[in-house]
Amino acid sequence: MTATPAAQAPADRSDREWWRSAVFYQVYPRSFADSDGDGIGDLGGVREKLGYLELLGVDALWICPVMRSPMADGGYDVADPRDIDALFGGMAAFDQLLAEAHARRLKVTMDLVPNHTSREHPWFQAALAAAPGSPERARYIFRDGRGPNGDEPPNNWPSIFRGPAWTRITEPDGTPGQWYLHLFAPEQPDLNWENPEVVADFEQTLRFWLDRGVDGFRIDVAHGMAKPPGLPDMESVSTKMLIHDDTDPRFNNPGVHDIHRRIRKVIDEYPHAVSIGEVWVDDNTRFGEYVRPDELHLAFNFRLAETPFTADAVRHAIDNSLAAVAPVGAVPTWTLSNHDVEREVTRYGGGAAGLARARAMILLELALPGSVFVYNGAELGLPNVDDLPEDALQDPVWERSGRTERGRDGCRVPIPWESEWPPFGFTVGESWLPIPPEWAALSVETQLEDVGSTLSLYRMAIELRGLRPEFAGPRIEWYGSPAGCLAFRRPGGLVCVLNASAAPIPLPPGELLLASASLTSGHLPPDAAAWLV
Ligand code: GLC
Repeated sequence: MTATPAAQAPADRSDREWWRSAVFYQVYPRSFADSDGDGIGDLGGVREKLGYLELLGVDALWICPVMRSPMADGGYDVADPRDIDALFGGMAAFDQLLAEAHARRLKVTMDLVPNHTSREHPWFQAALAAAPGSPERARYIFRDGRGPNGDEPPNNWPSIFRGPAWTRITEPDGTPGQWYLHLFAPEQPDLNWENPEVVADFEQTLRFWLDRGVDGFRIDVAHGMAKPPGLPDMESVSTKMLIHDDTDPRFNNPGVHDIHRRIRKVIDEYPHAVSIGEVWVDDNTRFGEYVRPDELHLAFNFRLAETPFTADAVRHAIDNSLAAVAPVGAVPTWTLSNHDVEREVTRYGGGAAGLARARAMILLELALPGSVFVYNGAELGLPNVDDLPEDALQDPVWERSGRTERGRDGCRVPIPWESEWPPFGFTVGESWLPIPPEWAALSVETQLEDVGSTLSLYRMAIELRGLRPEFAGPRIEWYGSPAGCLAFRRPGGLVCVLNASAAPIPLPPGELLLASASLTSGHLPPDAAAWLV
């Protein structure tokens, strides 16, 4: 592995469109670092690790939800969108983190959840206490049930977390009552975005955080919010976890674009701020609609996070992601994993091969034009933990699937920072999910000074990407390469080669800038990638 010294001045991060080629680091706060010993990560923990994030070289943080929440879905069930939960340190901890991150020239983006609230939100409590047809109920999606006694759900929609997407309430007078819609858990009632009060309240939330100084938002379920008129039945009931079947009536309804235009108007009052949508939409034309100039700045494209480690599949995913945004002139985004999907080391087969492939893929990803999202722990090469004890599992999917699907806890195991034993400095208490003892070999402390570690590879790659002029240009050109491999060139001159074949391959001419594995007799080994200039 070689790293060439920096040749250029650092990229200007004060630029208004700083996000166009930024490396975002996704913090799942429960699992990142615990500063108060309760076993759950918090904002004080993030603050203590800002030096680490600066060393890693990322430009911006995306912090998963930290607003007030009963935590039925790890904070994606928000009871007060304009306050920080005491579990994470309250508002004071947030303000302190924001100030210190900015002092280190790190941008901070927050996760907002517009599609639903918590059942504990005062609006939902008021809706339960009010009568059918009341203005309180009209902020959510309440309907009478079907069948003679109204005891069947209003339609056949399933929840993403299994079971029906409707729950029946008991009316204040004790009689069985109306049903409310929840595309996710029953603790997450869907808001009615046709109600102007809902729109106004979200605008207030946007301004509240922007006025406090945040640099933008990741918008949860950004293809949700709008529901189809009449809430028609689904033709076929799918049980997929994160749905992106373009015929699914629950998501991607045309009305969602007006909502995004409203949101964008507010965000445009703060010209440095970015909006990033979680958009699980497969069709490229429909995906591109979300990033038209008056809607979201960026939308997550999950192709790479869903792609197996083969040259054809990876090339197809790249072409597809570029094609989705090109017609509307938007910036492509790249992500290998997040808090909802299996970690890439495991997805690529686990063990040494899985790790080698994950290392190769981060070089490939950082070589692409656009913005890159790194999920905390990916830089350590953490695998999924698929054998967590059943009584530790917390993802609502576990209970709602009748304990047949473990859900997403396996990718949310806390970060090993230091020492030889769990909880590896993550907490001084007992970590909310157990950390495997073998992660001693993957801890930050173990990897930091080791130039061959995955952490060092990330550091070198992120640094080179930010400094070298060869990474310039919004396009890529494909290069000829041996079967089972791929190679592309950036207009600035960077060449990236991926060897997904079973044999070592010769490298094209050029100076080797960085490789994810040591060359063998000048050849790039299988499951590896290299950068040349
Ligand atoms: C998004 C989040 C996921 C959450 C869901 C419901 O998909 O990424 O973690 O469970 O929305 O808010």
